[in-house]
Amino acid sequence: MRAVDLIRKKRDSGELSREEINFLVSGYTRGEIPDYQMAAWLMAVWIRGLNRAELAALTEVMLYSGEVLDHSEIPGKKVDKHSTGGIGDKTSLILAPIVAAGGLTVPMISGRGLGHTGGTLDKLEAIPGFNVNLSLEEFRRVLRECGMGLIGQTAEIAPADKKIYALRDATSTVENIGLICASIMSKKLAEGIDALVLDVKTGSGAFMKKEEDSVRLAEVMVETGKRMGKKVVALITDMDQPLGRMAGHSNEVVECIDVLNGGGPADLRELSLELSAWMFYLGEKTKSVAEGRLLAESMIANGQAKEKFRQGIRLQGGDPRVIDEPQRLSQARHRADVPSLAAGFITRTDCEQFGIALAMLGGGREKKEDKIDHAVGLEFHKRIGDRVEKGESLATIHYNSGAKLAEASSLISASYHVGESAPREKRPLIRRILGA
Ligand code: URA
Repeated sequence: MRAVDLIRKKRDSGELSREEINFLVSGYTRGEIPDYQMAAWLMAVWIRGLNRAELAALTEVMLYSGEVLDHSEIPGKKVDKHSTGGIGDKTSLILAPIVAAGGLTVPMISGRGLGHTGGTLDKLEAIPGFNVNLSLEEFRRVLRECGMGLIGQTAEIAPADKKIYALRDATSTVENIGLICASIMSKKLAEGIDALVLDVKTGSGAFMKKEEDSVRLAEVMVETGKRMGKKVVALITDMDQPLGRMAGHSNEVVECIDVLNGGGPADLRELSLELSAWMFYLGEKTKSVAEGRLLAESMIANGQAKEKFRQGIRLQGGDPRVIDEPQRLSQARHRADVPSLAAGFITRTDCEQFGIALAMLGGGREKKEDKIDHAVGLEFHKRIGDRVEKGESLATIHYNSGAKLAEASSLISASYHVGESAPREKRPLIRRILGA
């Protein structure tokens, strides 16, 4: 078999067999196939697509390129959630403690910020001392002790994805439904879970801007998970505006603690409870989603979820005092308001631009090797449908360096669209549920 023939076959819309996909992916992971051939094949896939059998083969080859964890020594079901990412999307830090407090195990392998979106690992690292780089042995110990563990992809987990993802990032081959599905599902299926809840974002701040694309991505991920014997549902959720009021790392941790204390913004609380409810149901802790919701609410009301978060932080080397003293998280030195240039109602936002503004200020990565300033953040004051007066603050920027403040401020201002009346239709936070 030769890589060049398989590139040509895909370029000419042919179907690759499982053996052919295995040859390419395994050969590339072992370093026997060079970057330029894999890049050419990925671009051919990006243009021609993968059919169901090819997608199944690609996911499985990537999954078995590394270790598939087995947590059978820990009693009970193991469940996880994966989000396709957005602005202010911080639910993992809320639902992992809720679900672990409720008696299930959450072995969460997460990612860093990608493009304009934030990442769970970066948010956790805003907590002083928090170590996301546990060995698999340490990960198992933490899971056994407290029922939740949040780490990054180790060298043992889906190494083919790690290598291919870096190449996709540099060759503009990320935004393809088949490639995204294989990448996400190979990592999630390696976690040793019984069930998975997918939060597939849709809208101006998501990778998939159109709802029909989000639905297609959700469908293939649900199908892939079910074929591998897992219980999977996907919630298609709104990303036409930020989730919650805060974006940026320290800010988002504070907002998560607010929710675990029974407060926080309504949309963030609602989505966190709903995702937790589905995790309880799929993990067979409750007989219905409604019962799962009650269990999630009770874990917040009785303080057990907050205590679980404190325990999880401590076990992963973080400073658990941040729970009661959030001022221990790094704080930005300066604040600047972004005033509205007109009076009226917020009709829509170019939500992706908020993530770009945040990165510009140092609160995200413009290049992979950039270091994040965890203290930098955005605080959103207006949501779609809200009334705004001319000069009133749309958002507050928390910053340390003023170098790109003016540019970021204009970007944020231009990303809020103000019209004469509020949009007639109020679009729901949870648009659809697939695979239930
Ligand atoms: N997240 C991933 O892990 N992989 C993708 O391809 C896209 C988002």
